[in-house]
Amino acid sequence: MTDAVHTRRVFSGSQPTGNLTLGNYLGALKRYVEMQDQDFEDTIYCVVDMHAITLWQDPADLRRATQDVAAAYLAAGLDPKKSIIFNQSQVSAHANLAWVFNCVARLGWMNRMTQFKDKAGKNAENASLGLYAYPALMAADILTYHATHVPVGDDQKQHLELTRDIAQKFNHDFGVDFFPITEPVIDGPATRVMSLRDGSKKMSKSDPSDMSRINLTDDADTIAKKIKKAKTDPEPLPSEVKGLEGRPEARGLVDIYAGLAGITADDVLQAHGGSQFGPFKQALAEVAVSALAPITARMSEYLGDRAEIDRILGDGADRAAEIAEPILQKTYDIVGFVRSR
Ligand code: TRP
Repeated sequence: MTDAVHTRRVFSGSQPTGNLTLGNYLGALKRYVEMQDQDFEDTIYCVVDMHAITLWQDPADLRRATQDVAAAYLAAGLDPKKSIIFNQSQVSAHANLAWVFNCVARLGWMNRMTQFKDKAGKNAENASLGLYAYPALMAADILTYHATHVPVGDDQKQHLELTRDIAQKFNHDFGVDFFPITEPVIDGPATRVMSLRDGSKKMSKSDPSDMSRINLTDDADTIAKKIKKAKTDPEPLPSEVKGLEGRPEARGLVDIYAGLAGITADDVLQAHGGSQFGPFKQALAEVAVSALAPITARMSEYLGDRAEIDRILGDGADRAAEIAEPILQKTYDIVGFVRSR
């Protein structure tokens, strides 16, 4: 039913905190670009600066990181003519709808959010109220566009379930069929990119060791060096995926190869089974450099003209607001807010 009444529309967002990594590229950006060319009415990609300040951000760093993420979107192949690219704080509907959702979501639901517990850590009393309310703002991001498809990493699954719960409760409480029940579009195979130093951890921009990740700003030599130094085990590569069981580092490198080359892990092992890590890493470095070099080059071009990035974000915000604002106004009518200007 949802699909029949709602326009097919994609929304996703990334936080402007720290450097973007190969994990962001394979796990998110590559898919954003693919969806841009699929059969959707709109593809909307947001830099969620309002989510970022749920943890302290230095203002100058936040501004720069927002532009950096936008540059990575563009460098990866998002086209501002096809997709709407903007930063969250320039479209006020997000915050306004989030307030309504704060009044729909239940404390019991919020208390179950594992990301809050992880981020707040032991000292939850000292966490910001914003960090606690973060998932309601995320629901507003999605639902103020009536987005039907949301590509995200595995770690955001719980937040998307909450988004569905909020939509359902709103529709039920007000007796309407207004908000769509959003489909998560979770990672395909080989998009979960693991740390180069510890195969049981996700590659992360916040890992203290820069050797654990490939940044989208790394040059070819750095990429090759990091792959060469990546942790492995002494066995040669197996010829089937089954043989990677209990070998998380080997699995991680095979998955990265597969993701970059656009093939399956089985394909990789068919070609490289029996190979030692020395030659395999060399092949992987070549694949990585040839896939990433054009992106890195375009990214530094965009970063050379930050005013142009700001212009693209502003234009995207105008187009985003055109979709979001009428949905917010309709929400206000449903809730019973007087609108007389
Ligand atoms: N919470 C998401 C993350 O950390 C970022 C995000 C915010 C998002 N709003 C969103 C993702 C809306 C998808 C849709 O990755």
